Amino acid sequence: MTDLERRQDRSPVPSGWDYAPAPEARDIVTLEDSYGLFIGGELVDPRSGEFFATLDPSTEEPLAEVAQAGKEDVDLAVKSARDAFENGWSDLAPAERAKYLFRIARILQERSREFAVLESLNGGKPIKESRDVDLPLSAAHFFYYAGWADKLEYAFPNRQPRPVGVAGQIIPWNFPLLMLAWKVAPALAAGNTVVLKPAETTPLSALLFADVLRQAELPPGVVNIITGDGSTGAEIVKHEDVDKIAFTGSTEVGKAIQRELAGTGKKLTLELGGKAANIIFDDAALDQAVEGIVNGIYFNQGHVCCAGSRLLVQESIYEPVIEKLKRRLTTLRVGDPLDKNTDVGAINSKMQLEKIQELVASGKEEGAEIYQPPCRLPEKGYWFVPTVFTNVAQSYRVAQEEIFGPVLSVLTFRTPDEAVEKANNTPYGLSAGVWTEKGSRILSMAQKLKAGVIWANTYNRFDPTSPFGGYKESGFGREGGLHGLEPYLQFEQSEARGG
Ligand code: NAI
Ligand code: MG
Repeated sequence: MTDLERRQDRSPVPSGWDYAPAPEARDIVTLEDSYGLFIGGELVDPRSGEFFATLDPSTEEPLAEVAQAGKEDVDLAVKSARDAFENGWSDLAPAERAKYLFRIARILQERSREFAVLESLNGGKPIKESRDVDLPLSAAHFFYYAGWADKLEYAFPNRQPRPVGVAGQIIPWNFPLLMLAWKVAPALAAGNTVVLKPAETTPLSALLFADVLRQAELPPGVVNIITGDGSTGAEIVKHEDVDKIAFTGSTEVGKAIQRELAGTGKKLTLELGGKAANIIFDDAALDQAVEGIVNGIYFNQGHVCCAGSRLLVQESIYEPVIEKLKRRLTTLRVGDPLDKNTDVGAINSKMQLEKIQELVASGKEEGAEIYQPPCRLPEKGYWFVPTVFTNVAQSYRVAQEEIFGPVLSVLTFRTPDEAVEKANNTPYGLSAGVWTEKGSRILSMAQKLKAGVIWANTYNRFDPTSPFGGYKESGFGREGGLHGLEPYLQFEQSEARGG
């Protein structure tokens, strides 16, 4: 008999953090055994003849086979996008383009549970995140850019905005559908056509999105979705009939793409890595700050380019912050991504898990002190316990390199200047967080921190109207807001394509 039954209590009060399982039904998702490439409005067999398996990282079970697009497939996709651009899409009345985008946004909302379940199945992220963050934001991006499609002349007055042509878009595995939305929505609103490649570990939501496009009756070829690994991405980058490349992923690949495109006249935007500082001043509301620290680094298993992976705590409050943080970590529920109570899901891939393990081992070796709450991990699948490193020196790899996992490195500071100096001591510059009661300090820190996005008394907040992007090795170009349209437009007397 359970405690509750014994007490015959009708209003249960949880006595601990052991929640009963609350699994989301997975049967809303119908998977094919094998998927072709979405080219010219249809799923077609790859010319390459090659396929590879895509997994559920929480169980290592294969979910489906997807195509490995080769050079010939990339060429077909680009031709289909070019054809659609020249024969209809770029001449379509902007208000008509907007209608398709509104339709896509509405269908995403209608099918959001299906997408959320699929996103968690294929990527390992908790269902509450895919349901409450990835899906609503993806739909919001389409709604937002739908609104701009027929107002480009007002958005960029006297500059005669015109579409660029065919956009090649390469996205990562941490927010598969959301990164697709960030890329596809502004490209279409501006009148371009698209060849998009999802990451090799998370192709399924992009393939389901192909079905949304069919449902929305988007003209064939306007969006082509091809699956494959880095070599497929490289073929898109190299293809001479692509006018613009948008890439989100590792700094290493971003640099390679930039080298490849130098001198070609193709437009390029890069959203790369980060090692953001989350800075807690001694006047901050500590309990809220601790929630912000947790959200900053354990959200999406820390697979977030703008994750607050370096915690900078003012020395005078170091002890209470660390104590509260450790206590909070013991309440994080790690496990089945499809369980609605799960806070931290599965690591996206074996490769990423090994990278996290390697960096964590280096942290221990270099002399940082490690804390991990007691936690029982599932036997199968890829998992990592939420981790905090204290006693971290700025020179340690865990303070310098992007771990892209649920691992926080804690440093301290005494004065605001020291906080700025430490926060900026990184090759990256994507985001930062500032926690303080003082408005003037927020403004002064925001001026001095070299990061594209700075959150004050919150963290990891996104909105389609707000531009997002980096400094230094975090890349260049902005996505979101009006800024996010510019890379998809050319203007009178400006960058006509070189070639
Ligand atoms: P990656 O940069 O290799 O992959 C991202 C995308 O680029 C994927 O679609 C991949 O197929 C494609 N790609 C790979 N090589 C390419 C090439 N030569 N040309 C064109 N496209 C190519 O990232 P990976 O290997 O998955 O992760 C490695 C590390 O990168 C992670 O541990 C993390 O630190 C960082 N990363 C950062 C992301 C961010 O949002 N800033 C996203 C993904 C990874
Ligand atoms: Mg890679």
